[in-house]
Amino acid sequence: MTEEKAEHIPVMLNEVIQCLNLKPGDVVVDATVGLGGHGERILEEILPGGKLIGVDRDRNSLELAEKRLSRFKGHFYLFHENFINLDKVLSSLNIKKVDAVLFDLGISSYQLENRRGFSFKEDAFLDMRLDTDESLTAYDIVNYYSLEELSAIIKNYGEERYHRKIAEEIVKARRFQSIETTTELKDIILRAVPYSYLKQKIHPATRTFQALRIAVNGELENLEKALDRTVELLLPEGRLVVISFHSLEDRIVKRKFRYFSKENKVEIITSKPLRPTDFEIQINPRARSAKLRCVQRRNNHKNNILLKIFLL
Ligand SMILES: C[S@@+](CC[C@H](N)C(=O)[O-])C[C@H]1O[C@@H](n2cnc3c(N)ncnc32)[C@H](O)[C@@H]1O
Repeated sequence: MTEEKAEHIPVMLNEVIQCLNLKPGDVVVDATVGLGGHGERILEEILPGGKLIGVDRDRNSLELAEKRLSRFKGHFYLFHENFINLDKVLSSLNIKKVDAVLFDLGISSYQLENRRGFSFKEDAFLDMRLDTDESLTAYDIVNYYSLEELSAIIKNYGEERYHRKIAEEIVKARRFQSIETTTELKDIILRAVPYSYLKQKIHPATRTFQALRIAVNGELENLEKALDRTVELLLPEGRLVVISFHSLEDRIVKRKFRYFSKENKVEIITSKPLRPTDFEIQINPRARSAKLRCVQRRNNHKNNILLKIFLL
């Protein structure tokens, strides 16, 4: 790991801290602790007396977070776990409910830039696993899934208009030799799309690479499950903050938050998603597509008492 770049600028840090509404003594979950950028600021807000529980699927990132947070030793716990299992993580610490939870979705710059197959800008094996304990890689999908399956993944998770053409070109290429690297896949995509597509703002391979990453890591299914479970782990007036980086994720967050609100479980704090400032985007272009949404758990106990008083 010594030759790796270990960098990631936490996105919308001030907005995250404001929305989490923290105070000393709070117990907070950072469900995507990554390199500990948000975690570090959270710890500064909740000490003395608070605890941070950091979760990530990526062991290497957790090692870096451990180092970064070392000055807070004794006040944080890190877990190599999928965030769909936050309830399990909390029960291992004998904690039932928490004051705040943060999800900063997707992958970090550290993961993107360290030859794990997430980026077509670097030549690497088509891996794309966040958790190397899992077995499915992007290589497996690209080389063994049927034309129909590939086309559906690229369409549904990449919203790529040339999904069928790209899937056909992949199937054609792998007849001769398996597709092993990001560069090979990028070249196949470039062969599949029309020349005019090269002139658009984003690279023609962007959407297909996003689609494969989502499929390999089950990202959308995990997000749905995790939000359903997390809302039950919040204390009354506890805050849940989610930062998403593409429309598929944001759509899920928006719908779930609306549903929780209808069910009277939460109050929506951000009626429209917060966006990074132009200044932040200038310093950290990765933040440009970020959308932050926040809800607060309703104090149903207080509501019940008020209702009883009203009915008396
Ligand atoms: C954008 S990064 C978080 C960066 C972090 N907030 C920081 O400031 O360093 C997203 C992180 O979420 C992790 N992740 C994605 N899906 C996950 C899941 N289902 N369970 C746990 N961690 C996940 C990734 O491994 C990655 O480290």
